[in-house]
Amino acid sequence: MEVVHTIPELRAAIARARQAGKSVGFVPTMGCLHEGHLSLIRRAKEETSFVAVSVFVNPTQFGPNEDFSKYPRTFEDDRRGCQAAGADLIFAPTAADFYPAGASTWVDVEGVSAKLCGEFRPGHFRGVATVVAMLFNAVQADVAVFGRKDLQQLAVIRRMVRDLHMPVRILAHETVREPNGVAMSSRNRYLSPEQLAQATAIPAALAAAQALAKAGVTDAARLRAAASDVLAAQPALKAQYCEIVDLETMAPVASTAGLRCAVAIACHLGATRLIDNADL
Ligand code: PAF
Repeated sequence: MEVVHTIPELRAAIARARQAGKSVGFVPTMGCLHEGHLSLIRRAKEETSFVAVSVFVNPTQFGPNEDFSKYPRTFEDDRRGCQAAGADLIFAPTAADFYPAGASTWVDVEGVSAKLCGEFRPGHFRGVATVVAMLFNAVQADVAVFGRKDLQQLAVIRRMVRDLHMPVRILAHETVREPNGVAMSSRNRYLSPEQLAQATAIPAALAAAQALAKAGVTDAARLRAAASDVLAAQPALKAQYCEIVDLETMAPVASTAGLRCAVAIACHLGATRLIDNADL
């Protein structure tokens, strides 16, 4: 497995893979890889014969009071994880190399990025869409794999790819969970064992909404209340939102009848922000 840091090196490595007749898969990450990321890499390797992983903590998707500077950087572990999962290449640029000096071009995916996390993290999805567009331009992959845990991010990327005719197929991969049901996240390492136990109220809240939906309830207010009640019973969790949303537009709905919907949650647990979701 090769590790490259600059776009010319990346392009040369991808060109060699193409010349060897390989199809290219891509998994963008911010490092601090866990089993969820490794499952994305394995999935990309099932779909394509050469898998590139980017490891780049993207400054433009963090707000001024967010955890950019303390976001865990664990490159040696990440390198070992990528290798074990079957990646062929890591692209790990510096911000100074990746963003041209004075860069002033942004990709703004309106509508789908407005609600949910978009309301609480202004500018976040603009930073995500821009860096992912830049990475897609650099890697030129056939397939890119994203985790379903970041449901709104997935919807934003899908919309961007559709609207800008980007020649890449987006695959969504299931959320990987800790043994106690909490969705794996790089930010879980900020949690104490006690907080990790308290966080189980999040998947329990999702399950409560899912159980009602399975029983035939389509009224979003009832579905939302079922999930919110479970969250409220865990005082350590401070919910930012708990919404029933349309999977494509990410807009909150009044009824799930005839729509593909999910229940989506964001909570603070101490200083850590956690998100999770489940299909209904
Ligand atoms: O999901 C992430 O880790 C990031 O948002 C991404 C897609 C790598 C862009 O920086």
